Amino acid sequence: MTSVALAFSGGLDTTVCVPLLKEEYEYDEVVAVTVDVGQPDAEFAEATETADALGLDIHIIDATEAFAELCLDSVRANATYQGYPLGTALARPVIAEAILEVAEEEDCDAIAHGCTGKGNDQLRFETVWRGSGLDVVAPVRELGLTREWEVEYAAERDLPVEAGNEGEWSIDTNLWSRSVEGGDLEDPSHVPSEEIYDWTSAPDGGEDLVDITFEDGYPVALNGAPIDPVTLIEELNALAGAHGVGRTDMLEDRMLGLKVRENYEHPAATVLLTAHEGLEQFVFTKAEREFKPQIDQQWAEAAYKGLVDAPLVTALEGYLDACQSKVNGTVTVKLQGGQVRPVARESEYGVYSESAASFNTETVGGIEQSDATGVAKYHGFQERLANQVTEAAEDVDGDVEKPELSTDGGQ
Ligand code: ARG
Repeated sequence: MTSVALAFSGGLDTTVCVPLLKEEYEYDEVVAVTVDVGQPDAEFAEATETADALGLDIHIIDATEAFAELCLDSVRANATYQGYPLGTALARPVIAEAILEVAEEEDCDAIAHGCTGKGNDQLRFETVWRGSGLDVVAPVRELGLTREWEVEYAAERDLPVEAGNEGEWSIDTNLWSRSVEGGDLEDPSHVPSEEIYDWTSAPDGGEDLVDITFEDGYPVALNGAPIDPVTLIEELNALAGAHGVGRTDMLEDRMLGLKVRENYEHPAATVLLTAHEGLEQFVFTKAEREFKPQIDQQWAEAAYKGLVDAPLVTALEGYLDACQSKVNGTVTVKLQGGQVRPVARESEYGVYSESAASFNTETVGGIEQSDATGVAKYHGFQERLANQVTEAAEDVDGDVEKPELSTDGGQ
């Protein structure tokens, strides 16, 4: 007897995969696996009902904690890809690992997903699965299925796909973000209706102040009270979503090179990323602030590709550990009018001396205001000289005097 573990959501793609895996691929048994990374409860009800109707054995695996921890790792790296906080991308390796565990426990011969050959998720899943020794099967991609074909096939076979299951848009929701694509959004010139939003409301006139406390770059308390990662993200999604914070409407360059129009909602991610960067501004030197975006960008790029376990990422984490050990303190952010911005920062590690920066003090650590005169004289020296030299060199009439400090006849 042969069996295949299927990444199962109960949606159209994964539902049509079930008979296809049996008939086209000749597996005797399909083991459905749904992984909880913070989807709405209705999605589990849908997956369970559909699995029951198909006579499938369904495993629901709770991976919310592992996923929330990875989301908070991404905050240390200020991680966004082209402006998107990576919700779908970060969830995929967590989901893939959980499914692989079930496949191994259940002694499956193969592991399957319902992704198309156009998106990123096929690559993110398979990089985790390939190397496990199990066969990897992708019916939608391998059989070249289209949405239209799937709808017809489901109707013919009387598969349990409710009309309500497949609305106009394709939506992917987890703890970190809600992504909406397809339908009328495929036209980049189309202005989305308010209907596409579920987590964020159009901003009203109100405002809220929220304190986020960080330790080693990880958010650990909300308004002074210690909080676990999952609850923190849930609470901030609700709080900031009510102020319309965390909407992104973008054109995204997928791994295969396709440019797609994506809409995202990610209130908690926006708040945490903003607060974290607000604290880094305070505790980092200028050189550190200029360098870290290179680390951050590489981290985010790897995460987008589903490669959070890459050796490069492990090495980047080494830098993050080193620099985040001083990202300790509390940032107050203001949620207002669809925006979040830091409005107060407190940290023992702030590279900041009020007396040095103040207009009201003369000397700082033995340095007088007048000591800046020498610096001011030198400042821009090379630029001034370069402009003078050029002007003299390009002067055909010979009435521009050569600068005193030119290179020819130098001393
Ligand atoms: N484009 C995003 C990514 O690759 C998210 C896609 C989510 N899928 C969806 N059906 N809305 O990370």
